[in-house]
Amino acid sequence: MGYADLREFVRRLEKEGELRRVKAEVDPVLEVTEVVQRAQAMAGPNGSPGGMALLFEKPKGSRYPLLINAFGSVRRMELAFEVEELDEVAARIRGFLDMQTPQGLFDKLKMLPKLAELGSFMPKNVKDGPCKEVVHQGNDVNLFDFPILKCWPQDGGRFITFPLVFTRNPETGKRNVGMYRMQIYDERTTGMHWQTQKHGAEHFRRARAKNPEGRIPVSVAIGADPATTLGGILPIPPDLDEMMFSGFLRREPVELVKCETNDLEVPANAEIVLEGYVNLNEMRTEGPFGDHTGFYSLEGEYPVFHVECVTHRKDPIYLATVVGRPPQEDFYMGYAIERVFLPLMKLTHAEIVDVSMPAEGDCPQPDDCVDSKIVSGTRAKSDERDLVAGASDVYESDPGGGPRRECARLSRGGVEGTLRD
Ligand SMILES: Cc1cc2nc3c(=O)[nH]c(=O)nc-3n(C[C@H](O)[C@H](O)[C@H](O)COP(=O)(O)O)c2cc1C
Repeated sequence: MGYADLREFVRRLEKEGELRRVKAEVDPVLEVTEVVQRAQAMAGPNGSPGGMALLFEKPKGSRYPLLINAFGSVRRMELAFEVEELDEVAARIRGFLDMQTPQGLFDKLKMLPKLAELGSFMPKNVKDGPCKEVVHQGNDVNLFDFPILKCWPQDGGRFITFPLVFTRNPETGKRNVGMYRMQIYDERTTGMHWQTQKHGAEHFRRARAKNPEGRIPVSVAIGADPATTLGGILPIPPDLDEMMFSGFLRREPVELVKCETNDLEVPANAEIVLEGYVNLNEMRTEGPFGDHTGFYSLEGEYPVFHVECVTHRKDPIYLATVVGRPPQEDFYMGYAIERVFLPLMKLTHAEIVDVSMPAEGDCPQPDDCVDSKIVSGTRAKSDERDLVAGASDVYESDPGGGPRRECARLSRGGVEGTLRD
């Protein structure tokens, strides 16, 4: 049985000693990032790298708690997939891919259970869900109700960093779900960072080719059970439904509910849902943004998301992640997804060559990409005061940008700035 929702995962993390509650008030503008950096640099339970997941109970300026670093270690990714080792998931996927074309009746009969199992993971439509406990429409919509992060000093603003963006292919009606950052412009407007090769961007282009003055519906879910949440970053072929794959991963169909103001369906167990549209003739400057590489991505022109309706649970948990110089949470997500999906990725990318699983402790800390003074077991755990104390001073002491200001210097050629030295 998969996790029912994000909060069940939170309970599991807590039971496993993988979650720390932060009771002090911490500002989502820059301070949370500082605290997450400290947490990431500490040893998690059993001395493993990646620290602990953090539940900020009192993010400044919001009534809602903020969950972060929930997937920021190999162990937490194993817990997310409910396995002892990531290879178990890879083996399940390989099992399906290895299915040969049946040669005779006996072969066909042998395949039936597997095919039936696959079919049982199709998403299921339901009439209602906890994501609709509270509904705000029109002028009631205010994205600043949520503790949305500004991670780095030179970021263009606050960004939703862990969204599941739902669109439909305007020609085939096929759903796409992707994780694309969203810069907050005001209470009801955000950027939509669809990189040109991504499926969301493809839907936008196809629709625009038909009707340049039109709009497409877009809905965004924030915080669902782990397999559904990770559905937005799965490297699966374009014609496969991410929600079917999430169902496969959680061994139970994802329940989807129709939105209030458009025809898209979103996970019924989501914590928060934003409903709206993207105009096909509207672009706006997005960025800069401290990115996965440890460098700022520069400003660019991207589509704009208009939010018409927000639905959420009575007590929603806002899920976020810090994107920045590795190792951040996304490093562990990427590592796990790559291990799990290698068999599938090899089908579509023949140039991918498998490398053997690294020995325990070797990874995920390759010297060439990780700022890796974090050696298993060498970091002591510390109490909340150590974790939070002085996090705001770091920035207040120097309006030029805090500890990442050194790192926010422009590098050679003035093209990019590093997040820290
Ligand atoms: C934390 C995080 C943030 C991401 N932000 C973006 C983004 O802003 N834009 C983007 O195009 N891809 C982003 N990605 C990568 C996409 O989510 C990923 O490529 C996904 O598979 C895209 O789905 P698609 O292939 O269906 O478009 C991000 C991934 C992670 C883990």
